[in-house]
Amino acid sequence: MLQMGYDAADFAGKPVVAIINTWSDINPCHAHFRARVDDVKRGVLQAGGFPIELPAMSLSETFVKPSTMLYRNFLAMETEELIRSHPVDGVVLMGGCDKTTPALLMGAISANLPAIFMPAGPMLRGAYRGQSLGSGSDVWKYWDEKRAGRISDDDWREMEAGIARSYGVCMTMGTAATMTALAEVLGMTLPNASSIPAADSAHTRMAAETGRRAVEMVFEDLKPSDILTAASFDNAIAALMALGGSTNAIIHLVALARRAGVALDLKRFDDIARRTPVIANIRPTGQFLMEDFWYAGGLNAFLATLAPLVDLQQTTVNGHTLADNIAGAKVWRDEVVRPLNDPVAGSDGLAVLTGNLAPRGAVMKPAAAEERLRRHRGPALVFASYDEMAKAVERDDLAVTPDHVLVLQNAGPQGAPGMPEWGMLPIPKKLVREGVRDMLRISDARMSGTSYGACVLHVAPEAYVGGPLAFARTGDMIAVDVDRRSLTLDVADDELARREAAFAPRPPRLSRGFGALFAKSIGQADEGCDFDFLLRGDVLAEPEIH
Ligand code: FES
Repeated sequence: MLQMGYDAADFAGKPVVAIINTWSDINPCHAHFRARVDDVKRGVLQAGGFPIELPAMSLSETFVKPSTMLYRNFLAMETEELIRSHPVDGVVLMGGCDKTTPALLMGAISANLPAIFMPAGPMLRGAYRGQSLGSGSDVWKYWDEKRAGRISDDDWREMEAGIARSYGVCMTMGTAATMTALAEVLGMTLPNASSIPAADSAHTRMAAETGRRAVEMVFEDLKPSDILTAASFDNAIAALMALGGSTNAIIHLVALARRAGVALDLKRFDDIARRTPVIANIRPTGQFLMEDFWYAGGLNAFLATLAPLVDLQQTTVNGHTLADNIAGAKVWRDEVVRPLNDPVAGSDGLAVLTGNLAPRGAVMKPAAAEERLRRHRGPALVFASYDEMAKAVERDDLAVTPDHVLVLQNAGPQGAPGMPEWGMLPIPKKLVREGVRDMLRISDARMSGTSYGACVLHVAPEAYVGGPLAFARTGDMIAVDVDRRSLTLDVADDELARREAAFAPRPPRLSRGFGALFAKSIGQADEGCDFDFLLRGDVLAEPEIH
């Protein structure tokens, strides 16, 4: 410590607070973390603690190949081991870009020292030729317009620049906004912290307050195990549905719950979806953006509206209950956070489908799909790989109609590998030109939380390990019925048995390094895609210091 210029007066007898910072030069969503960490440190010092910044893998959603999901558990392990191996008493977790939130929380839950999450905050809303544009969602929309020849390269570039206006996470209700909101509902952030735009000075103040609170949490010994309960996970699921949040959150919440020792299965999500209306009118399900959500009162106002459907007696990191934290909260723009009796959608923010094509479940976001595709039966057009699909959909002579069901195999945890966000399969170009904007699509992949359309995702077990999705063939009839929650491959059982008998298991895609560990230990989507060895056993004792 002396070597770094610290005296005993700096640290002796003070809580040592680790600040796990996922900043990097190539993560635009966390570009402000280089400065924001100083605000957290300021708070820690003010409260009489000693801050230690510990950098961790940044997991930039837009740059990490082939998918950040391949590395979510890597960051979770890094977080847990950083906390365990250093002489620290508490931790501030700085994250926000998609996988960073669940990864940091998973690691902190397993380490179980006092921990508080500091969300990165959404970027400013996009502005382009008088319209508000949303991250991801409007990119996909304009990409189809470009493929259809309706906008020029210059228009495209101007649109891109209009979306990318500031640091911060995607400002639609994508995975980042969803997961940071759910971190807050779980009780792991300060009240309303997740809704503050990254570039708002309130965000800087929240960072300092998070630092101050981390020190107090050490004195109170308030740990994740004191905060996370079965009821807090039910609250998070209800919030996910009412936000019209990302399908990815299902995988992450299952993983978080399992780390916290709470049994959570897909049926719980579906049960809660059926009774929870979508009230956040945010893209891609609704109209507005996260900046509007903040002006409407933020998550506090949203939770106050959702109060009859959640258990507000759950504890949060500030030592108060959710009920205490939202006392007096009001919705200031009810077109953005709608009342329960006038929602964006009455129920089914997400739906869990099962059937002979997905015995362990698949998920869909019905509220973001064209109504006609909630109940649909059509011939399959099957692709065994992303490359094959990507080439085919550009062909003018592809034999496809709007009634076809596009199927992508081998895009799951093992098959891709890393379960990338390939699940919003592109509409074939010839149909885009005819004005088709949605089709039924099925895969064992995930999709971006900013995506939309009738996409059935997370089919489990995945095709690569011999799940029934592997046995679908072009021309087979496939039926989806959201109301009945069914996903059916209309092929006779004996024919399916023949196809199964002919299935040849493939070797793992990744044979060395972290990839080999991933291939050996990764769970399927319905299990939260955690590593089996991270679920076993109690919290490890802190290593002895000799
Ligand atoms: Fe980082 Fe969307 S790319 S949150």
